[in-house]
Amino acid sequence: MGHELQYILESKRLVWLVAVVFAVVIMFQYFEFPYGDVSSSMFSVRRAQPPLSQTNQTETSSEIPKSSGNITIFDVSNHTKPVDTLDEGNNIGIEINIQSNDSTTSPPPSLSASLTPPTTVNSTVISPSIALDNNTSKPEVNAPDLDPNFKKPATSENNPAISVGESPVKELPPVKAIHERPIGDIVTIADMHDILLHNRASVRSMKPQWSLMVDQELLATKLQIENAPVNNNDRALYPPLYRNVSRFKRSYELMEKTLKVYIYKEGEKPIFHQPQAVLSGIYASEGWFMKHMKESKHFVTNNPKQAHLFYIPFSSRMLEEKLYVTGSGSRDNMVQYLKDYIHLIAGRYDSWNRTGGSDHFLVACHDWATDETRKSMDSCIRALCNSDVGKEHFELGKDVSLPETYVRSTQNPLRELGGKRPSQRSILAFFAGQMHGDVRPILLQHWENKDPDMKIFQKLPKSKGNKNYINYMKSSKYCICAKGYEVNSPRVVEAIFHECVPVIISDNFVPPFFEILNWESFAVFVEEKDIPNLKNILLSISNRRYLVMQQRVKKVQQHFLWHVKPVKYDIFHMILHSIWYNRVFRVNPVS
Ligand SMILES: *[C@@H]1O[C@H](CO)[C@@H](O)[C@H](O)[C@H]1NC(C)=O
Ligand SMILES: *[C@@H]1O[C@H](CO)[C@@H](O)[C@H](O)[C@H]1NC(C)=O
Ligand SMILES: *[C@@H]1O[C@H](CO)[C@@H](O)[C@H](O)[C@H]1NC(C)=O
Ligand SMILES: *[C@@H]1O[C@H](CO)[C@@H](O)[C@H](O)[C@H]1NC(C)=O
Ligand SMILES: *[C@@H]1O[C@H](CO)[C@@H](O)[C@H](O)[C@H]1NC(C)=O
Ligand SMILES: *[C@@H]1O[C@H](CO)[C@@H](O)[C@H](O)[C@H]1NC(C)=O
Ligand SMILES: *[C@@H]1O[C@H](CO)[C@@H](O)[C@H](O)[C@H]1NC(C)=O
Ligand SMILES: *[C@@H]1O[C@H](CO)[C@@H](O)[C@H](O)[C@H]1NC(C)=O
Ligand SMILES: *[C@@H]1O[C@H](CO)[C@@H](O)[C@H](O)[C@H]1NC(C)=O
Repeated sequence: MGHELQYILESKRLVWLVAVVFAVVIMFQYFEFPYGDVSSSMFSVRRAQPPLSQTNQTETSSEIPKSSGNITIFDVSNHTKPVDTLDEGNNIGIEINIQSNDSTTSPPPSLSASLTPPTTVNSTVISPSIALDNNTSKPEVNAPDLDPNFKKPATSENNPAISVGESPVKELPPVKAIHERPIGDIVTIADMHDILLHNRASVRSMKPQWSLMVDQELLATKLQIENAPVNNNDRALYPPLYRNVSRFKRSYELMEKTLKVYIYKEGEKPIFHQPQAVLSGIYASEGWFMKHMKESKHFVTNNPKQAHLFYIPFSSRMLEEKLYVTGSGSRDNMVQYLKDYIHLIAGRYDSWNRTGGSDHFLVACHDWATDETRKSMDSCIRALCNSDVGKEHFELGKDVSLPETYVRSTQNPLRELGGKRPSQRSILAFFAGQMHGDVRPILLQHWENKDPDMKIFQKLPKSKGNKNYINYMKSSKYCICAKGYEVNSPRVVEAIFHECVPVIISDNFVPPFFEILNWESFAVFVEEKDIPNLKNILLSISNRRYLVMQQRVKKVQQHFLWHVKPVKYDIFHMILHSIWYNRVFRVNPVS
């Protein structure tokens, strides 16, 4: 962890340098090609202001995952060449932002550019320009930025101790800080990356009240992951898909070798212990996880003293089904039910009190679960479909984004897997769904029946086995995953299932396995405010880049598939792994 922290500090310095160069280069480009497509980013350099005010402005930018003074600017459009560098493994994908079509009068809402390791600009070149404005960090109202607490003293009244450049060693509640931002600010993928690193470096779970072997095992595991050998010889793991494939591989191996899970026997059916009630439909991931977990001979232990993790085996879907009083609008009884359960096990086993619940976990896909588990299980690792880092109290580095999977056939969850070859995908973009929430109506308003390339519909008419919908997914290049009432949607996994590149329009959504996967290498993230530009954004992605992403979607697919019997690297193991990984990195042994 120490070196991650150091890395943050170092790269922060770099990032400032880089940001300034960027601003200049982008401004340059911007005037050179007023209608040009200003680019993709792994690394969004954002600005709320017109480029002219550049000398006065501060850019907020994310940490570069791989810090180097080496910068290349490239463009996903036809204008520029270095797109080749895209596939070299180290790039952190793309996040597209496009300017409005008349750039001379209305500056882009957000510009972004890309960094890749190959050098063209030397960081030392720019240091003079940094010296010009020492005091640039004024909070910009509209700039979607990082966790303000560790970037700058934006909320200094609340956090007088924190200031620019100070090392983020304090325990800060970044999610809370985000709640305090001005309305309208969003947490981008790059921001999430920073928050994750920050939390990893600074937040530990409670020290155990007394020591057990498992604490030492977790600590040893953490060191082994941090020192993972860099060679990757596992052909099942394609490096560009991962934040760090060596670490993932090592962590996964150690999980297989070490991890033991204790499952509480308490709790009544069907809310507890009845996975078969929830094996199909959109909440299926909690049912399938419970089924596989309970059946696992490999991971389950009956001795709580040997357990690294404790599973609270309830179904949020059944909780709603059994306890929600229709029309009451109240979840209080469900919250109470879970609280009583925790009270019960905390009284009966000493494992809860030993760690304050921080080695306990739950896996829940119902939208309400995020809120329902917030009080009594706040210390637990919560695997949740509703992984909203803005509105809900979802804590990066502790909680896990659970994939929402729509399982159509319990006997054969792989039915209809796959889709057409890229060359046969004739539709640019597809969406169909009910008008839940406030984003979809905007999507429809701009794109329903507006453009033959954009197949954007309300709910499709019923067809046998939903063939119609599935055929669209199989025949489209991009599948639009627009949020519903909540950030999550089964479309993300459906798109991957049918080998369609997901286009996620859901601000603040933490995508599944965010700890592990480099999402921007195979998916497109579009901010809700950019819906009017959706088609331009998609067209600005070169065909070559599209093919790269589509290929990666196929390679990442294995991590999103349920099997009747679990297999290595499948979704069951990935969920368990993310829980494990977060536990390992928050371990806080009695010293
Ligand atoms: C810089 O900011 C100051 C005050 O914020 C403003 O008066 C000045 O016009 C700005 N300069 C430029 C070049 O925008
Ligand atoms: C840029 O990268 C090249 C090779 O990738 C490396 O040799 C060089 O030292 C780097 N330059 C800087 C300034 O980091
Ligand atoms: C973009 O172009 C279209 C048609 O050319 C025009 O109607 C629209 O107002 C433009 N949008 C902006 C933001 O300039
Ligand atoms: C680039 O950086 C290296 C070391 O960081 C430095 O020695 C060299 O002079 C720099 N090049 C330029 C053109 O500034
Ligand atoms: C900028 O900050 C550095 C270190 O904090 C200081 O040495 C330098 O004098 C400052 N420059 C200006 C122009 O304020
Ligand atoms: C620089 O920042 C410090 C602390 O925020 C402030 O006291 C000082 O007035 C600023 N200097 C300038 C030139 O804005
Ligand atoms: C991945 O992690 C390992 C172990 O911490 C580290 O040695 C390696 O440099 C990392 N690789 C990349 C590409 O960041
Ligand atoms: C755990 O702590 C609670 C509250 O302090 C207490 O009521 C309970 O008895 C403790 N559990 C055990 C097993 O000691
Ligand atoms: C890119 O080039 C291809 C053919 O070279 C052309 O069909 C396509 O429209 C171009 N795309 C953009 C965004 O300019």
